[in-house]
Amino acid sequence: KMQDVYQKLEEAALVPVLVIDQEDKAIPVCEALIKGGIRCVEITYRTAAASKAMRLVRKNFPEILLGAGTVLNRGQIDDAVDAGADFIVSPGFVKENVVYGMKKGATMIPGCATPGEMEQAMQLGVKVVKFFPAVSFGGVEALNLIGNVYGDLKFMPTGGINYSNMKEFLSCPYVIATGGIWMATRQMINEGAYEEITENANLAVTRKSE
Ligand code: 3PG
Repeated sequence: KMQDVYQKLEEAALVPVLVIDQEDKAIPVCEALIKGGIRCVEITYRTAAASKAMRLVRKNFPEILLGAGTVLNRGQIDDAVDAGADFIVSPGFVKENVVYGMKKGATMIPGCATPGEMEQAMQLGVKVVKFFPAVSFGGVEALNLIGNVYGDLKFMPTGGINYSNMKEFLSCPYVIATGGIWMATRQMINEGAYEEITENANLAVTRKSE
């Protein structure tokens, strides 16, 4: 199952990170992204609406690869699994949380910014980690140096990635997918700027295959 998720993530390659304040925005935002060619979204547990938004998206878009983001504790892991998340992301590495989620059968993608954290994740059987905040922690240069050491560890960088540098990250052999807020920002979602979101999704998908 984990391998399956990794493969779908690699195929999707682009992961819009969503901060949803009102759950009724979840469906139109995903519609707008899918229209632009996006196949995966990550809904962050930064808002009270996250849990309901996850369930709405799972129900309405059974085909979408659905991630739960900013998952910081067991309660949120439980909720994300219940909601049908395909993978669970955290900004940082907390061993207890990774173990807890894996025991529940979840594909855990913990944030790892240092080789020490990456090695701990690898010891747990994790093969894909988030690299956050990617640009601040050395960007593609850091990923190339680190990736070269570990061989089969793959990264999902986020944090400071946008249209102008996404291709650089996607061209790195150790990068499985890149995430970011830029395609559908919190403000765009709150304002219902769905055309702009589709346009950004389109730009990203086109840029990816250039
Ligand atoms: C995340 O949760 O990964 C970040 O908020 C995404 O980073 P960005 O806002 O710089 O795109």
